[in-house]
Amino acid sequence: MPQRPQPHQPHQPHRKTLTQFLIEERRRYPQASGGFNGLILNVAMACKEIARAVALGALGGLHGSADGAVNVQGETQQKLDVLSNAAFLRVNEWGGYLAGMASEEMEVPYQIPPQYPRGKYLLVFDPLDGSSNIDVNVSVGSIFSVLRAPEGADAVAEQDFLQPGTAQVAAGYAIYGPTTMLVLTVGNGVNGFTLDPNLGEFFLTHASLEVPADTHEFAINTSNSRFWEAPVRQYVSECVAGRSGPRGKDFNMRWIASMVAEAHRILMRGGVFMYPRDSKDPARAGRLRLLYEANPIAFLMEQAGGRASTGRQPLMSVQPGALHQRIGVIFGSRNEVERIERYHADPPGAELPNPLFNERSLFRVPA
Ligand code: F6P
Ligand code: MN
Repeated sequence: MPQRPQPHQPHQPHRKTLTQFLIEERRRYPQASGGFNGLILNVAMACKEIARAVALGALGGLHGSADGAVNVQGETQQKLDVLSNAAFLRVNEWGGYLAGMASEEMEVPYQIPPQYPRGKYLLVFDPLDGSSNIDVNVSVGSIFSVLRAPEGADAVAEQDFLQPGTAQVAAGYAIYGPTTMLVLTVGNGVNGFTLDPNLGEFFLTHASLEVPADTHEFAINTSNSRFWEAPVRQYVSECVAGRSGPRGKDFNMRWIASMVAEAHRILMRGGVFMYPRDSKDPARAGRLRLLYEANPIAFLMEQAGGRASTGRQPLMSVQPGALHQRIGVIFGSRNEVERIERYHADPPGAELPNPLFNERSLFRVPA
């Protein structure tokens, strides 16, 4: 006879919510106030709101660019960029744990309105990364980083945010794909939570994520190859050469043009991502922004056993000079990132002919 479950024996195994996870983390620090958990839960709330808006797609009337709006980076703002930025501000300003916020979509830091208490953290975010992909229904996401606020001053200034990645207290992203996930580090490994859309709750589904040290998958926008520096050219040409080249193995390439989606793939199965410094626009040191794109992803990668670098130094050791500073970014499987760093430390000289850059090459060196 089939056994009927006893009333005190639930059918389903207990699933850990993000709230339970945070409470259990906090128990390790008896002196913690709980404000930090409130902060993360509010960030998660903003992400749920954005997930909903993204999932409605054209039905939500929010596809396309915001009327004439251009952000501080000179990029066209999508309607969903504007909505996502507003969601982050509204959901996080009241809690009393923040001294200020900064975002890809705002030129200057956001001050906590005077009616709310001021807290000890700073929140920095890219409210909707990869937003040029929204209208084509490809995964986008929100990236965030938590820093400590300096004590004392009433208003926050740009200078307060200019902290190296090593100073981050927490970082993470939400990815809005076939499922919505929140991936988080509080400096004690990386954990992934999946949104149950029926309950509106994030549940721990990917505990202690680890990036494999080796990979055969790389991601780079090869349309920029003529602007790359020699170490990147060498690395990519060796990957492309595959089994018959110096690496002796075939590689595969991916480019989603949504960094959060690339970072997620790498956290799930390894790989290496590069948006390196190049000569495309001499005024810029790279494409991605240090404080709210590169550093939070670097923190996640390193907490998952991967590595993140500019090619010349660990990404998180870079002292930021400006809120919207750009930087060359290389992250993912540790052995590949270290190899690319070695190529930067010891650049291939002109005396080392590379057959992949001759006239039959995919990445031909311009004459
Ligand atoms: O926010 C910058 C971003 O959208 C990243 O998500 C992505 O990796 C990159 O730009 C795509 O750049 P490109 O248009 O050069 O492929
Ligand atoms: Mn972005």
